[in-house]
Amino acid sequence: MKTRITELLGIEHPIIQGGMHYVGFAELAAAVSNAGGLGTITGLTQKTPADLANEIAKCRDLTDKPFAVNLTFLPTVNAPDYPGYVKAIIEGGVKVVETAGRNPAQVMPYLKDAGIKVVHKCTSVRHSLKAQEIGCDAVSVDGFECGGHPGEDDIPNMILLPRAADELEIPFVASGGMADARSLVAALAMGAEGMNMGTRFIATQEAPVHQRVKEAIVAATELDTRLVMRPLRNTERVLSNAAVERLLEKERALGDKLQFEDIMEEVAGVYPKVMMDGDMDAGAWSCGMVAGLIHDIPTCKDLIDGIMTDAEAIIHARLGGMSGASAQAAE
Ligand SMILES: Cc1cc2nc3c(=O)[nH]c(=O)nc-3n(C[C@H](O)[C@H](O)[C@H](O)COP(=O)(O)O)c2cc1C
Repeated sequence: MKTRITELLGIEHPIIQGGMHYVGFAELAAAVSNAGGLGTITGLTQKTPADLANEIAKCRDLTDKPFAVNLTFLPTVNAPDYPGYVKAIIEGGVKVVETAGRNPAQVMPYLKDAGIKVVHKCTSVRHSLKAQEIGCDAVSVDGFECGGHPGEDDIPNMILLPRAADELEIPFVASGGMADARSLVAALAMGAEGMNMGTRFIATQEAPVHQRVKEAIVAATELDTRLVMRPLRNTERVLSNAAVERLLEKERALGDKLQFEDIMEEVAGVYPKVMMDGDMDAGAWSCGMVAGLIHDIPTCKDLIDGIMTDAEAIIHARLGGMSGASAQAAE
């Protein structure tokens, strides 16, 4: 399948694995890229730029296909060493960067001078237009369904994607709630040039996380996520667990007096405990509603091959069979 995204990023299939904290290590990124998609290393999971340089080198040993690095711009007081991370990305010869969080304008000149394609992930049409204006090559449009930070507008992809298609000139991929061939074909129908998946890629053989995390996603239904940190305007969609219910109780009790410090125990330093140690109640960790569509733990290659085969079948057999043109041709 050829789309503006496969052409732009030099990949075989229009499927991207989004950056994920403590999930997007070289093993997963390489497995996705080797399967013909675009794998992504999560930059800030690496504690220093030198660690990121090592992770990039490791990924290059595992694949000769293109892969991306995610750079998330967090609203923090002590900003990470972004110039150092950018230097590691450029010197590592990475060809694609997924930016997320705040507007990536500060790093654009360096990335563009190095010939790197920038895909900005954002949750609204206005932020997508801003990304286009500052020179991003594509956007990943993240609907309200998504695991992680859906923003504060709460627009699901059935509306957000066609709205993005109406406004944008640069290509975009659909992100949030994407799991299978039906997601891909629907995203293409709504004007996207491919799809970005997070939660689906955690439940794969190669995702370097504890088996209990994968099993929790398989066991979860579409009813099992919660939105936390809404009062702080830093909304995150997470899988429900004991810590999340405790956090929500604090939010209810404190109302608009809630401060980040009140919920530190449930959100700070949680990812290594959940992802590495499999301590499933250690705190709040991102998970999409799409968990309700995830029932297995395949290899990345089986997942991606299956999506592409089924997508062809939906397009040609199901949709082709319904259209007037093909009915006429058959007569
Ligand atoms: C466990 C987890 C961690 C994530 N961490 C990040 C991150 O560090 N930076 C980022 O830009 N997006 C992050 N995301 C968002 C994903 O890249 C992707 O946009 C999102 O998962 C898409 O929605 P889906 O889960 O419905 O596929 C994370 C998502 C999950 C599930």
